Amino acid sequence: MLDQLKAIPPDPILGISSAFAKDPNPNRIDLGIGVYRDESGSTPMLQSVVEAEKRMIAAQTSKSYLGPTGVTGFNSAMAELTFGANCEALLAGRIRTVQTPGGTGALRVSAELVKAANPAARIWVSEPTWPNHLVIFPAAGVPVETYPYFDKETSSLRFDDMLSSLRQRGPGDAVLFHACCHNPCGVSPNAGQWEAISDLAAERGFLPVVDLAYQGFEKSLEEDNLAVRLFTQKCPELIVAMSCSKNFAVYRERVGAIAVVAASAQKAADIETNIHSLTRKNYSMPPAHGPAVINVLLHDADLTALWRTEVTTMRNRINTLRAILVEKIRISGIQQDFSFLQRQSGMFSFLGLNVTQVRRLREEFSIYTVDSARANIASFNTRNIDYFVAALGKVLAD
Ligand code: LMR
Repeated sequence: MLDQLKAIPPDPILGISSAFAKDPNPNRIDLGIGVYRDESGSTPMLQSVVEAEKRMIAAQTSKSYLGPTGVTGFNSAMAELTFGANCEALLAGRIRTVQTPGGTGALRVSAELVKAANPAARIWVSEPTWPNHLVIFPAAGVPVETYPYFDKETSSLRFDDMLSSLRQRGPGDAVLFHACCHNPCGVSPNAGQWEAISDLAAERGFLPVVDLAYQGFEKSLEEDNLAVRLFTQKCPELIVAMSCSKNFAVYRERVGAIAVVAASAQKAADIETNIHSLTRKNYSMPPAHGPAVINVLLHDADLTALWRTEVTTMRNRINTLRAILVEKIRISGIQQDFSFLQRQSGMFSFLGLNVTQVRRLREEFSIYTVDSARANIASFNTRNIDYFVAALGKVLAD
């Protein structure tokens, strides 16, 4: 039976990582997968996480099953971090948070929940979006449609077009939003625009599904939750897919959670039983190690304060790199205007290159981006940025 299976090309983002790993060029630069890197080019563990992990291991007495919700202290701490400890819906019991294997796991559970709630539902995602969104939802039987989002000419948000499209959506639709640090384009709605989007969600009755993968990487841990908090205030229902991969730098531990806001506490409890039923048929229970570490961290005031400064350091470094890159490109003689990089945020921006130019960067200079020319800005450092700007100049000149 299994010999019927044909080889499948690698995932566009993960495939770039393995191609990069095989490249012997000492000047190679990986602008592909979204992992934070420090000046030395490595992805460090956070001190707050290392210390919390030591404490967690010292205190741990069993590795018996935890049950379908996973680490409950982690779930409640994540809910407070995301919605705020004084959130009315949280205090009223209208929010249930369940640990998942990473943010991707949360998205997959979200997709299955949408499918279970309404087998005819479709999900609308921004054009463009994280490529995995385009396959996670159909894999669970939820067709994907797109709404306008990014204007390639101006490297900014197509806000009016986005709103016109969302005005057509209704109760049979789910609409996916990136809470902050849009992946792949780095462009987010501003506060006033989020107000208008959340008003529209309440008016039209579609279900917002918020992907919260980069909390703390755009403005601050608090401000990056604006979309979630507005939807929670205005809409009876909401799904949030949370990832701890980036802001706790625990990528390989696969730490995430799905939070569901429902119209009543009873409905939230009912929905949670559906989540448990769906995950039991899949991975049965979520893995505990990473969430147990974050549970310790978020319940210790000193470790939490340290973690907050570490998130600020990562965010500031990316913003500084954006400014340095814009300036270096400007003085390099490259004619094109790259100042948009400084108006965008988070790890990613599009470089505005076509596929031929992307391939040239890869083949001639060992500089790896995905074919869309999405670049992970966090991968630059003082040793590689000039090499990159010179290569960029060459591919743009021809
Ligand atoms: C990315 O977009 O590069 C990250 O979210 C990592 C991934 O799994 O694709």
